[in-house]
Amino acid sequence: MAQNEMKKAVARSAFEYVESILDRDTIIGVGTGSTANFFIQELSKISDRIEGTVASSLESDKRLKALGIPVYDLNSVGEVQVYIDGADESNEHLQLIKGGGAALTREKIIAAASEEFICIADESKLVHVLGKFPLPVEVIPIARSYVGREIVKLGGDPVYRDNCMTDNGNHIIDVFNLDIMEPTKLEERLNNITGVITNGLFAVRPADRLFLGEDSGVRILQR
Ligand code: A5P
Repeated sequence: MAQNEMKKAVARSAFEYVESILDRDTIIGVGTGSTANFFIQELSKISDRIEGTVASSLESDKRLKALGIPVYDLNSVGEVQVYIDGADESNEHLQLIKGGGAALTREKIIAAASEEFICIADESKLVHVLGKFPLPVEVIPIARSYVGREIVKLGGDPVYRDNCMTDNGNHIIDVFNLDIMEPTKLEERLNNITGVITNGLFAVRPADRLFLGEDSGVRILQR
């Protein structure tokens, strides 16, 4: 199966799951990226049967609204029953690297606020050790150089992402050459650097389930 077909297949499986738990009050967290976009397409089939969504980026907000799906501010909703989003990497413990699309901070907030987090990804995203994909770190613009120097002390190679302004008005540093053996510790350590908004490790709050697209179909991994 081609990569795009795998992305479509996991988006469809996540949609079927959401449909099975749905009631009129359901608020669905919706992520960002090409796999999440396939999910948004599926979700438009039941836009009149859900209370609405919260979006992890302005881009997804726009797509959802264009398809007639209600989008709310996270502050105005109570509980988010389920959050569906892609990832750049996942290990077997469902700890993730996210932020390839620069939406990591809002994604992390929605993941934290959701009862259940389902990650949808094609099989190329499953790795033994996180870190081949450069780890995105969102920083306050004036702290960029300082944060970069602190990251070097941790053994990473920071590269400023050109022409990238996040939805929150900040910058992204991509950190190369990290072998992430202790994802939770590194997530906390990076978040403690002054000027860091957050980093793309989702280890403190990993996914609850991973719908993984493979040649033979969709495999579900659970924590
Ligand atoms: C967005 O910031 C990321 O966290 C995405 O979830 C990630 O880049 C996955 O994107 P694709 O679904 O396009 O592979």
